[in-house]
Amino acid sequence: MHLSPNELPIDARYKVLTGSMIPRPIAMVSTLSVNGAFNVAPFSYFNIVGHSPMALSFSVAGPKPGGSPKDTLRNAQLPDQGGTGEFVINIATEDYATAVAMSATPLDDDESEFNFTGLTPLASHLIKAPRIEQASIAFECKTVQVVEVGRSRLVIGEVVYLHIHDKLIDKRYRIDFAQFRAIGRMAGSRYARTTDTFVIDDEKFFPGNR
Ligand SMILES: Cc1cc2nc3c(=O)[nH]c(=O)nc-3n(C[C@H](O)[C@H](O)[C@H](O)COP(=O)(O)O)c2cc1C
Repeated sequence: MHLSPNELPIDARYKVLTGSMIPRPIAMVSTLSVNGAFNVAPFSYFNIVGHSPMALSFSVAGPKPGGSPKDTLRNAQLPDQGGTGEFVINIATEDYATAVAMSATPLDDDESEFNFTGLTPLASHLIKAPRIEQASIAFECKTVQVVEVGRSRLVIGEVVYLHIHDKLIDKRYRIDFAQFRAIGRMAGSRYARTTDTFVIDDEKFFPGNR
């Protein structure tokens, strides 16, 4: 098949992209609304922007069905856009995979996904947005920029504080992926584990690189 995106209906564009970019890491983005309500939702349009400064991004792909912005975007956008300018990226793992999927359920404004999913909010260190107790790695972020891309909004944040369970990180700052058990999103309701890995012997290409 060879075609222009304009020949694809919107739901087919979604299926082709999410079926091709696999597996995608999942950010459980926890935020606080300007009215003080906790919110958490999963985002797999998520990745690293850079490591110096440490910066992360996630993309909110369009508004809610009624046309209002998703709660995460409303809360994470900068104060002059009506948000708090803060969010926490909690990395989704097998430990709370069902809650990850559940937390995408649209709820009434006054209902918290924390109550709905059984996830526990924990106070962050430098920002007011909560982090998730069940997450073994979490990054407190301050929003730097929200980039408009058509109906989507790419939220870029700088990491201001990190939480990593001691058992997951060694003296050389290497994360133990086998214990971490992060999950990825495939398409639809299919998820991937990160424990089936392989090593490419790259010593001959990059001598002394490791
Ligand atoms: C695993 C998973 C990944 C998701 N990734 C995204 C994403 O990257 N962007 C997006 O706009 N919605 C994504 N969604 C849907 C949102 O989580 C969903 O719209 C949610 O209700 C938004 O919540 P909020 O209004 O509290 O922000 C994803 C859902 C699941 C289950």
